[in-house]
Amino acid sequence: MKRFVVFLMAVSILLMNFAVSFAAGVDVGIVLPTKDEPRWLQDRARFEDVIKATPYSVEVLFSQGSSAAEKTNVETLIAKGAKVIIICAHDAAAAGIAVENAKAEGITVISYDRLITGTDAIDYYVTFDSISVGEAMGQYLVDNAKGTGNPLYLYAGALTDNNAFLFFQGAWNILQPKIADGTFVIKNSTQALALKGIKALTREQQAAIIGEVTTDWDMNVAKSKAEAHLTAMGAADKGQVYILAPNDGTSRSIADVFAADTDVSKYFITGQDAEKASVQYIIDGRQSMTVFKDTRTLASDAMNMAIEILQGKTPATDTFYDNTMIQVPAKQSPVVIVTKENVKSILIDSGYYSAGEFTGL
Ligand code: BGC
Repeated sequence: MKRFVVFLMAVSILLMNFAVSFAAGVDVGIVLPTKDEPRWLQDRARFEDVIKATPYSVEVLFSQGSSAAEKTNVETLIAKGAKVIIICAHDAAAAGIAVENAKAEGITVISYDRLITGTDAIDYYVTFDSISVGEAMGQYLVDNAKGTGNPLYLYAGALTDNNAFLFFQGAWNILQPKIADGTFVIKNSTQALALKGIKALTREQQAAIIGEVTTDWDMNVAKSKAEAHLTAMGAADKGQVYILAPNDGTSRSIADVFAADTDVSKYFITGQDAEKASVQYIIDGRQSMTVFKDTRTLASDAMNMAIEILQGKTPATDTFYDNTMIQVPAKQSPVVIVTKENVKSILIDSGYYSAGEFTGL
């Protein structure tokens, strides 16, 4: 029986390889982390727009939050003859092995939005200015706070995502002086309270705070954390509150929890990505702001870079990112703060979304 199973497995692997080797070739392979976080569906749609306009063959694969699936995706693209791979990693460190395999085949690797760390097997990085994303969030909360003793609730992204550190670092740059001077009082993180006197946190110190208030980029984790926090707090820790939420999906679920608490009179909450559902929340006054990262720019920057590489040119970059192993040449895009006041001009008038997708604009 065991032998028969092994035989069947061997046959199916052979058939898979056969199918791969006879499948159409791919010039550029794109690997995105998951369909479950709406951000990456936006990126796929934007990639599809750019792909339509190129003569090259491009394939987009999703890794569904699994480093193993991600590695298989990269192997599939290698087998299909990809010359450039654009990859947004599920897990910054775990993706190293997948891109090392690609590099060994002479493929050029572009790290997309999330920096892959601890490897020399990436050639370029295309990203938004993630520190400024966090700074914009921190600044929004500061700009809306008066007096002292304002309750502050902190939430962060996934520890496996280098961006979660950059967003937190940016926010902390702005919030820390206002925590130190008493404008804000942290309510939900003993780690952050212990470190509140330090502006320039080490990676380990950041990890201690992020580990405590992480959402894992998961709306359900965010919801249950927020519920646990509010259950543990008395009325005096609520009232008008300030919430650092790391992205739109988690922001909506945290906002719903705070909105349902009768001791919360008003909340200010951050977000990023300008997801459609959050744009509606902003119009309705249920989310305070989002940081708009124009995925049209990121997708076309990455594809243009790939095309230049295919044409034997060296793509232009404007900065470097340290991935703990090498300085990665990077192309970085700016971000825009969106609130109820400018949502129409930034997101509708620019053609990113159409007015008909929302109510109450
Ligand atoms: C991205 C964010 C996104 C988050 C969760 C981050 O790496 O930069 O835009 O919201 O991952 O998917």
